[in-house]
Amino acid sequence: MADIKEIICNEKSFIREAEYYSNKYQIPINSTPLENCYIELSLENSLVFNEKRISNLFHKEPFLRRVKNYQREIMLKKAISYQAGKPKSILDTTAGLGRDGLIFALLGQGVTMVEENKGMCILIESALKRLPETSYFNDAKNRITVINDDSSKLKLNREDFDIIYLDPMFSTHNKSMSSKELTFLKTYIDQRQDLVNIFLKKRYKRLVVKREKNFKSDSIKKENIIYEGKSINFHVFI
Ligand SMILES: C[S@@+](CC[C@H](N)C(=O)[O-])C[C@H]1O[C@@H](n2cnc3c(N)ncnc32)[C@H](O)[C@@H]1O
Repeated sequence: MADIKEIICNEKSFIREAEYYSNKYQIPINSTPLENCYIELSLENSLVFNEKRISNLFHKEPFLRRVKNYQREIMLKKAISYQAGKPKSILDTTAGLGRDGLIFALLGQGVTMVEENKGMCILIESALKRLPETSYFNDAKNRITVINDDSSKLKLNREDFDIIYLDPMFSTHNKSMSSKELTFLKTYIDQRQDLVNIFLKKRYKRLVVKREKNFKSDSIKKENIIYEGKSINFHVFI
């Protein structure tokens, strides 16, 4: 898997933010790129890899549609056994761009996002920082913690989280992702290991796995429930 080697920042107003990520993720700040993989910070946040770039802004299309309609995420809500006014704690073990995680937070859930790729972590944190200052977004932001780690190594007690959430593979049916983003991420992340069987051996109350509809399951346990969407299914293990 590729990962970023430097943070590029040329605008004074973003230097403090760049310094924060530089300290947290131990990555140098430069004014011009020396490497082929870096984060560039300005009003946008760009992840650049082999001269291709993507940006992650939660308040812009293609994701904005999901943000506006988060209450209509019927299958996702069923999968986490959503109850209005009764927030759950969710461990998002494959945070990615933080998009499913933000939907959970908008739905009022407490979300711990774990992502092993530093570039992706900065894309999440900087997207949260760039959200408009409204109570709607601020409340959601306050429910999110971002951790840079390999989630497969986490030791879990059953009571630690109400829901363990896994979205291991970039789906070709992801409506909140453009084909440009998908192509970029498939090369940048180059996912080989499927985490599901690792988590099925851990302790959990409810484990939810997002899968493409035509996915042939090779899980060591049979799911208790499958919630079927048009192109995505949620497999639930209890
Ligand atoms: C398909 S993406 C998740 C997309 C995410 N659900 C979203 O809505 O943006 C999978 C992500 O899991 C991350 N990942 C894979 N294995 C991991 C592990 N063992 N620990 C933490 N993150 C992992 C990858 O780096 C990738 O960013």
